This record gives sequence, C-alpha cells and structure tokens, in this order.
Amino acid sequence: MQTAMDAELRRLLETLYDEGVRNDVHEQERQRKLLNLEPETAHFLSVLVMSGRRTRLLEIGTSNGYSTIWLAWAAQATGGRIVSIDREAAKQEQAIANLQRAELGDLVELRCGDATELVANLSGPFDFVFFDADRFSAPAQLALLLPKLTGDVLLCADNVHSHPDEIAGYLQTIEALTEFEHMVIPVGKGLSLAYRTTANG
Ligand SMILES: C[S@@+](CC[C@H](N)C(=O)[O-])C[C@H]1O[C@@H](n2cnc3c(N)ncnc32)[C@H](O)[C@@H]1O
Repeated sequence: MQTAMDAELRRLLETLYDEGVRNDVHEQERQRKLLNLEPETAHFLSVLVMSGRRTRLLEIGTSNGYSTIWLAWAAQATGGRIVSIDREAAKQEQAIANLQRAELGDLVELRCGDATELVANLSGPFDFVFFDADRFSAPAQLALLLPKLTGDVLLCADNVHSHPDEIAGYLQTIEALTEFEHMVIPVGKGLSLAYRTTANG
C-alpha cells in the first residue's frame, strides 16, 4: 500500500487550496464559493480512510473536488471508491477537471443534485461517510443512510466549532445512536467522528 503522497499531487492540492481561498475572498455569491476543507482536516480524513482500510466512501459536498482528491488518494491506497454529491453543476464540472488533473477520476462517481434526494436512491453499502454540505439536511441524510452502512463504519462531519447552531441537529442525531462512539476532534473547523463496529463488520 502506497501511503506517501507524491510531490506533484501535493503541489496540485496546494494550488487548488490557494485558488479556493482567493476565490472565496472575492466571490460575493455564496453558492459560487468553493469552501474547501482546511488542508489539515483533509489530510486527517485521508489518514482515517487509509488506517481504517475504508473502501466504500460517500462524500456529501464535492465543491470543486478538493477534499474529494484527498479522499480518492486515500481510497487508491485501500482499493476503494468514492461517490460524491453536490447540487452545483458548475462546481462538479470543476471537480471533474481537477480529479483528472490528479489522475484520480476513475475512483470517483460524481452525482449532481440535492443530497437528500440522491442519498435516498443510493444502494451503498458505505463504510465511510463525510458530511460536508448544508448541515441542516445532514440528519435527514443520515436517517436515509443508516440501512446502507456497513456494520463497521466511520461517519465524519465538518464545522462543529465554526457552525455550532447549524450542526446541532446532526450532533443530536448522532448522540442518540448509542451504538456509535462519538467525539469531536479539534482540527480545522472542528470534526465530528462517529464510529461503530459490529461483530459481523
Ligand atoms: C463546504 S462545501 C464542500 C467543500 C468540499 N468538501 C471541499 O472540501 O472541497 C459544501 C458544498 O455542498 C454543496 N451543498 C450544500 N447543500 C447541498 C445539498 N443539500 N445537496 C447537495 N449539495 C449541497 C454546496 O454546493 C457546496 O459545494
């Protein structure tokens, strides 16, 4: 398993992140902001995927594919694949181009549309889910996903510290799922991790 990122991919990710920050400073329209994950959070997620040998990944909130590239890089090491959802077609066009630049496009299935509607029609199963879209609809997506998760599964959600009010419903839902071990990691904007394992995996 190859776990060291090559210099070219690292440079591409740095370039994308810098471009995203510059875009978001100047862009007035929220739906055109890229809102990329902090690099340390994205790196941490990729380590979780690799160390947990996660292979069936779902990302809700693709944007231009910055975090998707990190996840796909990790999935390449585990032999995994990713489904990633965003409702903004223009951003997913950018994600397609960026994933091609990263030579990771083959590992990613991009779906365009409202996440709750799309999640309802996904068959799964998923052993890793990253919630990074609008935090209000995450509880509904989680409810739809529960029957589509493997026994051994890791659920991640960003913005616990940056948007505590918006993510409160998701955190309450997670806390009510007593089979999950839940914690918040103080990385980036605050990352919620919920882990469940069962005997039959
Ligand atoms: C924080 S950004 C995702 C950033 C991305 N994960 C990254 O790090 O590069 C949130 C994205 O979720 C999308 N989004 C928000 N609400 C959504 C919904 N209900 N369904 C689908 N996509 C949604 C937005 O268009 C936006 O691109």
